[in-house]
Amino acid sequence: MLSVISKLVAVIRRQIGVPIILSVVDLENHTRQDQPSVGQEARIPFTQEVAVILLEQGLRLGVDYIAIDLNFEDRNIRRPLSEKGRSKVIAHYYDGRPPTCGWLQPDRLALYNRAKSFNFDIVRLVQTAKSSKDNDDIKIFWEKTAALPKPHIPLIAYNSGSIGVETLELNKIFSPVTHSVLTRTRTPTASRLTSEEALRKLFDKAIFQPLHFYISGAMVSYSLSPAMHGAAYKVCGMPHDYTINQTSSVEAFLRLANEPNFGGSATNQPLRMDIVPHLSAVSYHAHAIGSVNTVVPLRALPSSTAHSLALQATEPKRSGPCVALYGDNTDWIGIMTSIRRNGSPRNAVQPSKTTGLIIGAGGMARSAIYALLRLGCRKIFIFNRTLANAIAVAEHFNAWAGQLRFELPIVTVLRSRDEPWPAGLRPPTLIVSCLPAHSVGNLPVPSFEMPEQWLQSPTGGVVMELAYRHTETLLVKQIRDLRARTGQAWVIVDFLDVLPEQGIAQFELMTGRRAPRRAMREAVIEAVRDDPPGGFKV
Ligand SMILES: NC(=O)c1ccc[n+]([C@@H]2O[C@H](COP(=O)([O-])OP(=O)(O)OC[C@H]3O[C@@H](n4cnc5c(N)ncnc54)[C@H](OP(=O)(O)O)[C@@H]3O)[C@@H](O)[C@H]2O)c1
Repeated sequence: MLSVISKLVAVIRRQIGVPIILSVVDLENHTRQDQPSVGQEARIPFTQEVAVILLEQGLRLGVDYIAIDLNFEDRNIRRPLSEKGRSKVIAHYYDGRPPTCGWLQPDRLALYNRAKSFNFDIVRLVQTAKSSKDNDDIKIFWEKTAALPKPHIPLIAYNSGSIGVETLELNKIFSPVTHSVLTRTRTPTASRLTSEEALRKLFDKAIFQPLHFYISGAMVSYSLSPAMHGAAYKVCGMPHDYTINQTSSVEAFLRLANEPNFGGSATNQPLRMDIVPHLSAVSYHAHAIGSVNTVVPLRALPSSTAHSLALQATEPKRSGPCVALYGDNTDWIGIMTSIRRNGSPRNAVQPSKTTGLIIGAGGMARSAIYALLRLGCRKIFIFNRTLANAIAVAEHFNAWAGQLRFELPIVTVLRSRDEPWPAGLRPPTLIVSCLPAHSVGNLPVPSFEMPEQWLQSPTGGVVMELAYRHTETLLVKQIRDLRARTGQAWVIVDFLDVLPEQGIAQFELMTGRRAPRRAMREAVIEAVRDDPPGGFKV
């Protein structure tokens, strides 16, 4: 059984990546009518000692949560609690045959207080609903616990069974849900909703309101973000919309952002930088980068005050008066995650030796520099068509790094394509090109070819081409050719890798909910399926 737990934890982490709650239940007391029964031979006789051994296995594996039955003897509660490490522990209580008005009995509050006395992180109380009165009673119980002296521990409380299903919708944290695959393959059950159905019901009851999201900037008509975020809303059961807001006017953007149903906007040039002075706060990362790619509203409470930034960042978003705008940047997350995923152990970042090269000096170049810094690279070079812009970016990051007492300079400008790679330093193994692949204004399409003397890494590295909706740029062809000629192990990463990663982080920031990662990646792939081989024409 211990190895079964280890295997399942590994599978969930690898395939799904969701937080894991390990509960050990006595099937004799817990099997619901809609659950398949387990063969007698597969059963291990349930004892508290066996349960504790299994929970300890979960703790060794570092699962996110374990649940301990509040009916256990004190010593069987204390033992796993004392070994919990970083895992959180839920105090669990289930009553399958509750008395009439079970939630109003004094023992329910006593259970909550028992969980508190053991210093549990969360308490979960569940009972089978016998009548709809139980659904009214639980609301009284929620109010009673809220009125208890502080500190409170987070409470999960709901009724199970088909009558109790509406309490699953109203319970605020960790309501159990089923998966649509399970509802198709098993006997449908009226006692469990999918997470999509549960969220949809909250919107139907106007507990949450549909919001409008945008991508705003001067040239955003070809953006894939509406398709990517739209797919995510559909999977999650959110009736939001995400549209293109083609503008370079800060005033027009601010008018839109102050609408009560504005949910947030991705920002593209020129708003990435122009909007910053109009934001009340920016994240640590956006401040370091000096540009934002996401703006979200901060809401006022009925009392005309506002929740803390930390709380606003994690809670589900609602409509209402906007008290301020908050900016963040998720581009660096997309770049960092994609480099990490594609880097080889041979080129593992060593702060004293690894060098990086950034082409371009716009908003994406800034995000790329920050991503390399976060990966541990401390020697970054930048080349750009307009020297003054490259110098400004290098000065920005060197000033920022100076405050953090980094060894300077961390960003150095390469002034011309003819410059040799700086003597005494390893050639770059992390290269990010941040140039458009479409024409800007009336100018010709950028056609950047990397000087060969900057491509001498014998172990290759990662070349990231960020050009939007273009996978066959001159640089990509050049690296492919170099790889064929020299055998250097260059890995080419394009925008299809980076865009969903930054979008996933952006979705979570904008909605306060976990992103459906696979749906977002697939939506991007689907949206570019019919792009011409030479790249999308703007
Ligand atoms: N994958 C993604 O998720 C994603 C997201 C956003 C953007 N992007 C891509 O990244 C590109 C850059 O975005 P950004 O926000 O950094 O734009 P930006 O701030 O406007 O910067 C553009 C950069 O490209 C340079 N450039 C423009 N035209 C050039 C040309 N003809 N020859 C040489 N250099 C040229 C500019 O040089 P100067 O300083 O000399 O003007 C500047 O350094 C976008 O165009 C888009 O293709 C990708």
